[in-house]
Amino acid sequence: MGFGLMDQLYDFINLIWELLRSRAALEMTRPQIAILGGGIFVRTQYIPRLREITDIVALKTIWSRSEGSAKAAAELARDFSPEIECKWGDAGLDDIIQDNSIHGVAVVLAGQTQVDISLKMLKAGKHVLQEKPAASTVSEAEAALSCYNSLCTNVPRQPIWAVAENYRFEPAFVESRKLINDIGDMMSVQVIVEGSMNSSNPYFSSSWRRGFTGGFILDMGVHYIAGLRMVVGSEVTSVSAISSHVDKTLPPPDNISALFQLENGCHGVFAMIVSSRSPKINWRVVGSKGTVQVERGNIDGRHGYLVSFYSTDGKCQTNFYPFSGVNEELKAFVHDMLQAEQAGALFEAEPRSSFIEGARDIAVLEAMLESGIKHGAQVHVKKL
Ligand SMILES: *[C@@H]1O[C@H](CO)[C@@H](O)[C@H](O)[C@H]1NC(C)=O
Ligand SMILES: *[C@@H]1O[C@H](CO)[C@@H](O)[C@H](O)[C@H]1NC(C)=O
Repeated sequence: MGFGLMDQLYDFINLIWELLRSRAALEMTRPQIAILGGGIFVRTQYIPRLREITDIVALKTIWSRSEGSAKAAAELARDFSPEIECKWGDAGLDDIIQDNSIHGVAVVLAGQTQVDISLKMLKAGKHVLQEKPAASTVSEAEAALSCYNSLCTNVPRQPIWAVAENYRFEPAFVESRKLINDIGDMMSVQVIVEGSMNSSNPYFSSSWRRGFTGGFILDMGVHYIAGLRMVVGSEVTSVSAISSHVDKTLPPPDNISALFQLENGCHGVFAMIVSSRSPKINWRVVGSKGTVQVERGNIDGRHGYLVSFYSTDGKCQTNFYPFSGVNEELKAFVHDMLQAEQAGALFEAEPRSSFIEGARDIAVLEAMLESGIKHGAQVHVKKL
């Protein structure tokens, strides 16, 4: 406490300053977002996950192409976001672009339209969390990246462009990446995916996936490639694959077997069956001093991954990690939005959700699909 007049004045100015600062901080401690999309994933994942983190992020608006779908999705969020707004059609999208109180958007739309809409939002200065796949093709991803990079030179601060693929945030993969340091020389990698995409699956009839080049192999495959790249910590450089179309109720191909070469000199196999009767998803990395395995499983009704480490003495230690990638990834995006506001241009967004990481997963699958069409000819993976 000061006694002189100057001291009192100084205290007073400090008080006002603190008040202004805390008010500004309060406004930005809970960024507001809009969801673009009203489909299954919004209703079953985004809304429930956002409900769990209302202390850090507010859902202001839900937009969908049609009024009915926007309203139906918004109703599901009304309990934690009583003032939620519904927007639809082109006019609704423009409203969101104009609304400066919306800091970020989640783009959860058909794979074919996501990149265009994301770029539109980024140009408007909004941070974007776009659902996977990052793009439909590598060339679309490259064009989008150059557009995004040129955009950054025209705006005062770079908006974040994150792609939601969640696997890089799963604790099981984060842990496996560490265990790989103890396996000695990496000798072989196996990724086996027997999916269960049949008419009982809510995504089975999704029309955009049926019109997507690469079908479910590309749409679902990005996750398994993300898991592979994360665990081995090395890039896939070339592939050779055989693919087939067996189940005619699914878009082609539904079945692929690939050999791949890694940058670190190791090689491996990737086999993916879209619809099997014996679901199994597993990554296995064999080294000279140990083996790491990540396998989808469930314990006490909780779904997640079993991570096993086999050491040279024949012992195996297994830990279970329940799914939490979607939550972790959403939290990282919110955290990044806050950082971007506070640190401006100096700040770097979470690399695990960067657009380029998502594009690299596409590049590996695109090479496999191309090799499949060429009956197994070796194809180099486009370096991004
Ligand atoms: C995958 O392709 C192979 C070879 O064409 C075929 O024998 C097998 O039945 C297919 N599996 C499934 C589940 O579609
Ligand atoms: C779809 O696959 C699941 C898991 O394998 C199985 O339980 C279910 O019966 C299958 N449904 C159809 C219609 O084949």
